[in-house]
Amino acid sequence: MTSAQITAAAAGTWTLGDLTVNRMGFGAMRLPQTGRALTPDAAPGDRDRAIAVLRRAVELGVNHIDTAAFYFSRLRSANELINTALAPYPDDLVIVTKVGPGRDPSGEWLPAARPDQLRGQVEENLRQLGRDHLDVVNLRRMPSMTSLAEHFGALAELRDAGLVRHLGLSGVEPADLAEVQAIAPVVCVQNRYGVGAGPEAHAFVDACGEQGVAFVPFFAIAGRGGGAGATGPELGEVLAAARARGVTAAQVRLAWTLQRGPHVLAIPGTADPGHLAENVAAGALRLSPDELARLESLSAVRDGT
Ligand SMILES: NC(=O)c1ccc[n+]([C@@H]2O[C@H](COP(=O)([O-])OP(=O)(O)OC[C@H]3O[C@@H](n4cnc5c(N)ncnc54)[C@H](OP(=O)(O)O)[C@@H]3O)[C@@H](O)[C@H]2O)c1
Repeated sequence: MTSAQITAAAAGTWTLGDLTVNRMGFGAMRLPQTGRALTPDAAPGDRDRAIAVLRRAVELGVNHIDTAAFYFSRLRSANELINTALAPYPDDLVIVTKVGPGRDPSGEWLPAARPDQLRGQVEENLRQLGRDHLDVVNLRRMPSMTSLAEHFGALAELRDAGLVRHLGLSGVEPADLAEVQAIAPVVCVQNRYGVGAGPEAHAFVDACGEQGVAFVPFFAIAGRGGGAGATGPELGEVLAAARARGVTAAQVRLAWTLQRGPHVLAIPGTADPGHLAENVAAGALRLSPDELARLESLSAVRDGT
């Protein structure tokens, strides 16, 4: 089967609360700019290409898109691109946003939102996406948030009010998850993770699975490149696995994360239609136990945490 024929369904499904998604999703952070994301002087990305990538993702079966109101460049906003490309939205499309961080109109970072400011951030996402509720909202933990419980409690009120259907967390540790689960259910944890992650990160992925909480890694392809993207040299072991299989390093990285458990959802970010097709096709790749073990043993380099 060629890449072009493989859809996101090949990765299998997971249910976030009552919302079933294909485990191969899409991250929208790369669309508004070229180069490093979330910088005020980033060059705007190509608008038509971004819209085409979003529409093609949905054609390929992607029904889980990760975004945020603070994903924007001087001329483009991820939410506006999603709205333009995909509204009226397919019934099965789950759009996940995150709140907590914020950027001023010129793109500079603002202090993290206080609990009483989270409603405004949720409403900003609703307005930009053109929806009357958000499917899933992740509270992105920021160092200045001294009480995660207060922030999460404010989001739980918005959930009770019907503005948000399900809640998740991002950038958190196991104790954070345990703390807020006493306030409201958590359907997903979105953390930095991938090949080369350390043992604590692996254990957290497993713990989420044991609790029925989806684990959604970001920078699974970018690895050490982080916000700058997949820019640096690739790890030799990843390249060797890719060569042996006749696939790309990005596909090996995605397949490895998906094989960490049925609760792991991929949200690779790209503004490149060719990369999109490759990433979706990675949902059909099954690495052997030997390959998985070799990649898992890269823990020591702590590349993905
Ligand atoms: N919760 C958080 O704090 C947080 C933080 C960061 C990101 N996120 C979310 O997670 C998503 C994923 O993170 P990400 O987009 O930064 O990183 P990523 O998915 O790990 O990798 C994206 C980078 O890899 C490149 N790439 C993608 N597919 C490729 C392929 N098949 N072959 C070669 N290169 C490929 C992209 O460039 P091209 O555009 O050239 O393909 C880009 O440089 C984001 O889009 C965002 O929605 C969340």
